[in-house]
Amino acid sequence: MDLKSLIRDVPDFPKPGILFRDITTLLQNEAGLRYVIDQLHDHHVDAGIDYIAGIESRGFIFGAPLAYRLGAGFIPIRKPGKLCQAVYSVEYSLEYGTDKLQIHQDAVQPGSRVLIVDDLMATGGTAAAAAQLVDQAQGELAGFAFIVELEDLGGRKLLPDVPIKTLVTY
Ligand code: PRP
Ligand code: HPA
Repeated sequence: MDLKSLIRDVPDFPKPGILFRDITTLLQNEAGLRYVIDQLHDHHVDAGIDYIAGIESRGFIFGAPLAYRLGAGFIPIRKPGKLCQAVYSVEYSLEYGTDKLQIHQDAVQPGSRVLIVDDLMATGGTAAAAAQLVDQAQGELAGFAFIVELEDLGGRKLLPDVPIKTLVTY
């Protein structure tokens, strides 16, 4: 499957000089959507994953069907003010700006294995923050899975030493 042909390139979004890789065109394509979930499922089927932690918002789109297929639970990692119980919080840098992420303090059964899922890794700041949250919630980080990796931004260097699966690299 040629995933790059299903991902739309949008110059100068959200700011001049940024070439935005738009996954909405992949989502629109029923074979493409099925393929990426199946690929991530097949890669992780024997990894003993207890929970998928999906990062708001595009990580929810891919994370929930992957959790369903793996027979795992789903944990939302959310932007501030959205979760209704006690949270852990981490501030992080984006390719464009800064933000905060939160997880429910009781989201994870301590010691269970958590796979962090998002649509795309750019600088790696978002995923690194998610990993800190999983750690604070006493989950065991099993790895990361992304549809897209923007390799030139070197995001892998920010991430802990666990397996990282990506399906398309630019
Ligand atoms: C995008 C993307 C990743 C993150 C990657 O999310 O979905 O979560 O940026 O960037 P990084 O590797 O440089 O941290 P965004 O914050 O735009 O939120 P959204 O999913 O709600 O659109
Ligand atoms: N595309 C989609 N999301 C992103 C990008 C991008 O190029 N960079 C950071 N988040």
